[in-house]
Amino acid sequence: MGAGAIGCFLGGKLAAAGLDVVLVGRERLGAELAASGLHVTDMEGATQTAPASRWAFATDVQAIAPCEVVLCCVKSAQSAEAGALLAGSLRPHAIVASMQNGVRNAQVLRGELARQEVLGGIVGFNVVSKGGGAFRQATTGPLVIEASARSEVAELVDTLRRARLQALARADIQPLQWSKLLMNLNNAISALSDRPTQELVFKSEYRRIVAAIIAEALGVLRHAGVRPARLGPLPPGIYPYVLRLPTPLLRVVARAQLKIDPEARSSMWEDLVRGRPTEVDYLNGEVVRLAAASGTDAPLNRRVVELVHEVEAKGTGSPKLGADALWSALNG
Ligand SMILES: NC(=O)c1ccc[n+]([C@@H]2O[C@H](COP(=O)([O-])OP(=O)(O)OC[C@H]3O[C@@H](n4cnc5c(N)ncnc54)[C@H](OP(=O)(O)O)[C@@H]3O)[C@@H](O)[C@H]2O)c1
Repeated sequence: MGAGAIGCFLGGKLAAAGLDVVLVGRERLGAELAASGLHVTDMEGATQTAPASRWAFATDVQAIAPCEVVLCCVKSAQSAEAGALLAGSLRPHAIVASMQNGVRNAQVLRGELARQEVLGGIVGFNVVSKGGGAFRQATTGPLVIEASARSEVAELVDTLRRARLQALARADIQPLQWSKLLMNLNNAISALSDRPTQELVFKSEYRRIVAAIIAEALGVLRHAGVRPARLGPLPPGIYPYVLRLPTPLLRVVARAQLKIDPEARSSMWEDLVRGRPTEVDYLNGEVVRLAAASGTDAPLNRRVVELVHEVEAKGTGSPKLGADALWSALNG
């Protein structure tokens, strides 16, 4: 549900593994897939073409009615609408897993889908839409589904593994989602600077910005009593320290822990470039909200949210701020 970068990548992997997949998306994507087919490429550069007999594309959510499992892949602002549409189509007891960033999408979907089993989820890697029906995984990371007593959920995780995804079921989904949110705070920096993820990680002038907004968020979480759980190879509490390492040392740590394709870019960057609203309110904005609710402040993340909204309102794409200009704008 919401076939875009993540929906098409996951749907393509599942169809290539022999499952029957229905992709619900917009007309323009349907035309692209009809013309070019659906192709998914992993971190090793191996491309699989999903057999046309295994997937169908629809703009009408009714097409999803017979499905047993739905992966919800719309942007956070569209969750309530997607949930309401699914409620009118899905059979009772179907499983709906939110594969979205942010910490409250499953809760929003549950508000609409009283009769279905809604699970939180995390896509711990980046996917780039290449055009021509091609979707490429661009960083390493796991795929997490909220654990459940329902046997179909264990089956789903097994199926995702068969589809060559590093899938796991975890009960502590909210603490893990907070960890992912900490990593996603850099999405706005990517969108405002127009720099690829590799540059944000390996150039110290951008890294100090990312480290500062993550350190601020960690302070807010501590103050509010929220404990993020370890999602990747490093505990979330040390992200700022790692980011503040000298670049040669950071390269050694990163080489052992994380692969980043030169093409990796955040979906928030893509949103700004395409003139679409971003998810900043659900990422940096979530930190600002938690700070306010727990009687503290998050001035850097608040400024990030303001800057992104100013740029969205102009509709002229990324402002391509250099590191110094961005640092001044955030601290001004
Ligand atoms: N991209 C990544 O690398 C990545 C990685 C991890 C997690 N995520 C998360 O995954 C979620 C999806 O991200 P994405 O990058 O895949 O977004 P995306 O490329 O924008 O895909 C979502 C698609 O769903 C469509 N859509 C929304 N409502 C619909 C409806 N009712 N019917 C049919 N189509 C509908 C959207 O169309 P319109 O734009 O026209 O509304 C859009 O084409 C986000 O929460 C994101 O943060 C993304």
